[in-house]
Amino acid sequence: QGPTRVFSGIQPSGGMHLGNYLGAIRKFVDLQHEYDCHFCVVNMHAITVWQDPQKLLEQTMHIAAAYLAAGVDPEKAVVFHQSGVRAHAELAWILNCVARIGWVNRMTQFKDKAGKDAERASVGLYTYPVLMAADILAYKATHVPVGEDQKQHLELARDIAAKFNHDYEKPDFFPQPEPLIKGQFGETGARIMSLRDGTMKMSKSNPSENSCIYLTDEAELIAKKIKKAKSDPEPLPTEPDGLEGRPEAKNLVGIFATLSGKSEADVLAEFGGQGFGVFKPALADLVVEKISPISEEMRRLENDPAYLQGILRKGAERASEVTEPILKEVKEIVGY
Ligand code: ADP
Ligand code: NA
Repeated sequence: QGPTRVFSGIQPSGGMHLGNYLGAIRKFVDLQHEYDCHFCVVNMHAITVWQDPQKLLEQTMHIAAAYLAAGVDPEKAVVFHQSGVRAHAELAWILNCVARIGWVNRMTQFKDKAGKDAERASVGLYTYPVLMAADILAYKATHVPVGEDQKQHLELARDIAAKFNHDYEKPDFFPQPEPLIKGQFGETGARIMSLRDGTMKMSKSNPSENSCIYLTDEAELIAKKIKKAKSDPEPLPTEPDGLEGRPEAKNLVGIFATLSGKSEADVLAEFGGQGFGVFKPALADLVVEKISPISEEMRRLENDPAYLQGILRKGAERASEVTEPILKEVKEIVGY
């Protein structure tokens, strides 16, 4: 089966946070050297919930700036915006007709995002995972670096690919995309949780006050957010087992481990027995050290939207060179 091809995307629906960085972008930087990579700003996903049009444009540039500032090289990887490549929308429709309602009903993220009043959610939010399948399959991507939170959607994409291949009697047409989640690159802590509630993921889609550390936060604000982060009165345990049942402690230790490249056990060997009064300032220093070079570069790039637009436009052309032949084949298969 063809080349090893990577697709991944981030929604321009809010500020880039530490979860997006550790769960996604930081991996993109490593992957670009090994694979044929396509990194997208998924603006079509963003509008599944209301976005102010001017803000949507700004946030699209913000995500592009984050990709570049973190070290994604637009000469190596294809960096583009989703709406600039028509195959995403066209394939999504076809795949909407392949996916089954029962499959989509099982997606837990819809329930989380739609909240109690699901009847008032957009239809787009409901079929969002099918658009995500189209994003991946439009490239015949073989590998998808996603955070733990997107694993269920990737499984749906695999099911849709298999059903398309089966229904149209083209057993090898779409490859089964594989997740690149945890451990693949010596990573730990693939899922970063909210600083205010260790059972909810850090997310730009429904942030509460001080729940997210944004890549553009200043040092002082980062320290304040970490100081205020929910924790518990116990000292840190000396072994990872002792983090069970302590989601906030586990999250903070996980962030430290992931950012420093150490294991949880190593972090606890250093901080075990100490309280959060010691651990939190150390964590704040580490976060500031790792993200301040990125935020500086993001600010510089965001002051040059014409440059970023040029990158995205060129990227969309390169991406279309990959998707157009695949889309043409899909249309022939379907009988268009
Ligand atoms: P958000 O939930 O913040 O809107 P997106 O849906 O745009 O994030 O996801 C962009 C990428 O960031 C995906 O690969 C996703 O898996 C990853 N990601 C998002 N939130 C987290 C998190 N809290 N921890 C780890 N990875 C995350
Ligand atoms: Na999301």
